[in-house]
Amino acid sequence: MCRMTAPRPGLFRTKSLDALVAESERTEGHLRRALGAWNVVLLGVGAIVGAGIFATIGTAAAGDAHRPGAGPSLVLSFVITAFVCGLTALCYAEMASMVPVAGSAYTYAYATLGELVAWIIGWDLIIEYAVGNVAVAISWANYARTFLEELGIHVPLWAATDYRTALKIPGILEDAPRLLGIPIVFNFLAFAIVAAVTVILVWGIRESAAFNAVMVMVKIVVLLFFCGFLFSNVPLSEMAKNWTPFQPNGWSGTLAGAAIVFFAYIGFDAVSTVAEETRNPRRDLPIGILGSLTLSTVLYVLVAAVFISVMPYPVLRQQLATQQAEPLTMAINHAVPGAGWASALVALGSVIAHTAVLLVFQLGQPRIFFAMARDGLLPPVFARVHPRFRTPHVTTIVTGLLVGGVAGIANIEEMVDLTNIGTLFAFVLVCLAIPVLRRRDPGRERPFRVPGGPYLVPLLGASACVMLMAYLPPLSWWRFVGWLTLGLAVYCAWGWMHSKLRDAPRGAAAPLRLAALGFVAAAVGMFLMPHDAGFLGVFARAARGGGAAWGVGLLVIGLAVAAAGIALARGRVARAERG
Ligand code: ALA
Repeated sequence: MCRMTAPRPGLFRTKSLDALVAESERTEGHLRRALGAWNVVLLGVGAIVGAGIFATIGTAAAGDAHRPGAGPSLVLSFVITAFVCGLTALCYAEMASMVPVAGSAYTYAYATLGELVAWIIGWDLIIEYAVGNVAVAISWANYARTFLEELGIHVPLWAATDYRTALKIPGILEDAPRLLGIPIVFNFLAFAIVAAVTVILVWGIRESAAFNAVMVMVKIVVLLFFCGFLFSNVPLSEMAKNWTPFQPNGWSGTLAGAAIVFFAYIGFDAVSTVAEETRNPRRDLPIGILGSLTLSTVLYVLVAAVFISVMPYPVLRQQLATQQAEPLTMAINHAVPGAGWASALVALGSVIAHTAVLLVFQLGQPRIFFAMARDGLLPPVFARVHPRFRTPHVTTIVTGLLVGGVAGIANIEEMVDLTNIGTLFAFVLVCLAIPVLRRRDPGRERPFRVPGGPYLVPLLGASACVMLMAYLPPLSWWRFVGWLTLGLAVYCAWGWMHSKLRDAPRGAAAPLRLAALGFVAAAVGMFLMPHDAGFLGVFARAARGGGAAWGVGLLVIGLAVAAAGIALARGRVARAERG
């Protein structure tokens, strides 16, 4: 017999692991179990190797106006980040083998830290998966446009960039077609690739995995080709010279590099979202998570080592930001001038690598929405499974429209920073969930266990993630907290009343809507804040009026309204329970 709820108070009520697993195994409306260990490893590599290695290592090595470059110590940056991600991956592996359910960190939090934290983490995962994919789609469009140009196909910039970028580059607005006199600038390329990926995902999990496997093979071959080609064309003595000075900007350069290349590692956790489509998840998920991370790390360190061997740091620093955004082709062009075919091949590999990342992330996000809807925290339509394809088609299409639409208008840098902070936050909670569950449910079968006991690895992992979060700019922090606050608004407006863990009295609905309004106001306040100021700096500026005053005013009033709404709702719940 399954125990549906643990006896914990209201918002921190946890869902029993037995209930979670039993629900996922219900015969009606379940997903198709079609994946083996190898598919899962490939899905992991599909999610991990993409924009990070193909687009960010130039900036990480060279630095930019705001951060010092790692120089040759880029290799060390990759190793440091791999270590941080490795600690988290061990925690994910234990959780995924024990709770093989589609919702990933959201589900683990529901079983350990309670419904409210689960909701927060589910909402936060939208940042990792959907916002992360917005960034990847935009980067895909850059590379695809470059590659199409090589083939002689011209895509105008107004159809491959966003409006704010167009404002900064002369000529784009002038060339754009007009509707009622307004220039149309929309990243149609980014939108189109997301639409194409969405169609494949609705079609079927087996087809998606097969498509992914081909793309993963191509990107591994292309990265190995990059290394082999440069090894055979550049003398070793030339390469060795470029390794000194190893840390031109000391540890601050190396660590800033580590923070940037974190984006390259995001994705090993996405493997856990296909738990319900894996034939033997208890065994295959740990293999998938740890195997894909290991394989990607080896590739990354190799590529980074070759890259810094052929690109002298002083030369790298002189390159334009646009050249640094395509670092691997830049390295080939610099080291072996005239080998245009080789750089075109790498550019094609990059387009394919980006496509695989898009595919796996677009696969993960709908399954998290699916799990949340099954628990009642989102409308039931999100938990529908297509009768023929057996995929969560509604959530897949909604995610496609959201990601494609935002990718058409958004700016890549903002999306990357937001993705990093959101993902790190999810990692922290998963690490913390390990000791909680080991204490609360010590007898449960754990096909995979984090080595070294319940504290060492999880606490080290959580602290390392917090340290990386601390390196992110205030802008990302304000937006991140604003996003979570918006999530609280949605929880009050829907999830609290409809959660399958409780029978909320109807009288609580009105005060909860009031709380939702308050949270929306507070979130708007955070988005309006001057984001370059630190936490205290904002309040100092608010005293002088302007946007800061509006931001702080909305924040304070919004939080007060939300608190009042919640207090009223809890009062009505308590009265209903007594009566
Ligand atoms: N790790 C993924 C990439 O680099 C997000 O594109």
